[in-house]
This record gives sequence, C-alpha cells and structure tokens, in this order.
Amino acid sequence: MSDTPISNDIKEIIISEKNIEQRCRELAAQIEADYENDGITPLVVGLLKGSVPFMSELIKYFHHAIEIDFISVSSYEGTESSGDVKIDKDLDLSSRNKNVLIVEDIVDTGRTLKAVKQLFYNKGANEVRIVSLLDKPDRRKVDIEADYVGFKVPDAFVVGYGLDYNQKYRNLPYIGILKEEIYE
Ligand code: IMP
Repeated sequence: MSDTPISNDIKEIIISEKNIEQRCRELAAQIEADYENDGITPLVVGLLKGSVPFMSELIKYFHHAIEIDFISVSSYEGTESSGDVKIDKDLDLSSRNKNVLIVEDIVDTGRTLKAVKQLFYNKGANEVRIVSLLDKPDRRKVDIEADYVGFKVPDAFVVGYGLDYNQKYRNLPYIGILKEEIYE
C-alpha cells in the first residue's frame, strides 16, 4: 500500500459522512413509503462500482422486504451521444414484471441512466425508478431525472463515497473535490 493517505489529495470536503448517512435515512423512508403505498417489493439494483457505498448505506434503513442485485455496464466506444451501453455483468435475478429501483452514484450527462432505464424496460420490468446519491443538473445532455436525489452538486469533478478518479478515491467516506494538481 502507498504510504500517503488519499485524503491528502482532497481540496475540500463538500458532503460529510454524517450528512450522507442522514440523507440516506430520509431517502429510504421516502422511497419505502412510496413503494409501501402501492404494496410493492422493489428489486433494488446497484450500478457497479460507484453505487456500492451508497447502496450499502441506503438499504440499512429499509424496514420491509426488498430484493437486491447488481449490474455493470459500460458505454460502447464511439457512441457517446446515443448513450448505448453494453452489459459487462448482468443481474443474477430476473427483472421481468419487477419494480426496479436503480441505485446510481451520480447523474451527470444522464446518458448512462437513460440507457439503463430503457434496458430494464426491454427486459420486461414493470416499472423503473432511479435513486442517485448526487445530481449535477447543469451537465445534463439528455432528458432524464432521478426520482430520488441525495444532493445536488455543482459542475465540479467530485470523488469519494463510491465515486472515482482513475479507479481511486472510491473508499473515501465523504464527497470531496480533488486538488487541481491531481489532474495536471
Ligand atoms: P453520465 O452518463 O454522463 O450521467 O455518467 C454517469 C457516470 O459518470 C457516473 O456513474 C460516474 O461514474 C461518472 N461521473 C460523472 N461525473 C463524475 C464526477 O464528478 N466524479 C466521478 N465520476 C463521475
């Protein structure tokens, strides 16, 4: 292991661990109330890998039955604008006739989520909703919104709590902005 803590690379913490925990409690209560009203057991699907810390925190605060699964997708080369995705690791469970709740780390341009939402409808899901820890509305390129959002963030590159820069910083327990020198 490197002897320098990764927290040294963070310029500013913008969302603390405590705030994330509190927001996860609120989101879980709201989501659960919505599904409970309709008598639904959702299939909660984390998008690997960025959603893992958020999903782990969020599901602790559900008090009724849920199913969980994970999917990993990547964008097809050269099709940035269409937002086509290929499945690198598919669900273990069937999503047919299920009410799917996609768990994502951040909605940026929105291309990934738009494609993944359609993917679940193509697989026969009954309904697809999205919960995202973060939302960068200023960056949106396609018409999609998460049904539930933890925090809106400005148009800056953020890391931590699942979000990476070159696969690093996912294990930070907060959301922070990287020092410029890390990019340079
Ligand atoms: P979209 O399809 O442009 O909405 O891309 C969403 C994906 O881009 C997220 O799942 C993240 O993996 C990545 N991403 C977007 N913005 C950031 C950021 O500020 N930090 C880290 N990853 C980001």
